[in-house]
Amino acid sequence: MLGLVATLVAAAPAAAQDGRAVFDARCASCHALSADAPAAAGPHLAGLAGRRIGGDPAFDYSPALREAQGTWDAARLDRFLTDPEEMFPGLWMGGNGIAQAAQRRAVVDFLTGR
Ligand code: HEC
Repeated sequence: MLGLVATLVAAAPAAAQDGRAVFDARCASCHALSADAPAAAGPHLAGLAGRRIGGDPAFDYSPALREAQGTWDAARLDRFLTDPEEMFPGLWMGGNGIAQAAQRRAVVDFLTGR
């Protein structure tokens, strides 16, 4: 019985990463998930997979993101969230990456529909 409890407790952290919950806790204060949401501190993140970097036409991006090339996909988003300012020096996101890999992956999956 004790062994079973220990097994369940040990398994919980890996299984319990819910991308929406992590997004709500760590990102939703600045980012909306729909294009017609009221203006927020950050750009909306609707349809992020395949979207151009700096691609919310209503948002006034930093030069770092205005001048960036390419589109978002899961691999790029994972690298971005590992250390946002490392990927885009001069970024205006206040160090709000996700250091913990399982949490980061859950958010990436949630935002790119994986
Ligand atoms: C304190 C507010 C804030 C928080 C919290 C925050 N962001 Fe941001 N985010 C921003 C701002 C502001 C920008 C635009 C930065 C710029 O123009 O340099 C941005 C940009 C982005 C972009 C680039 C969007 C594009 O259109 O190219 C992505 C992706 C992103 N954030 C994801 C996230 C995720 C995922 C989280 C949660 C882990 C998060 N952000 C947390 C403020 C925030």
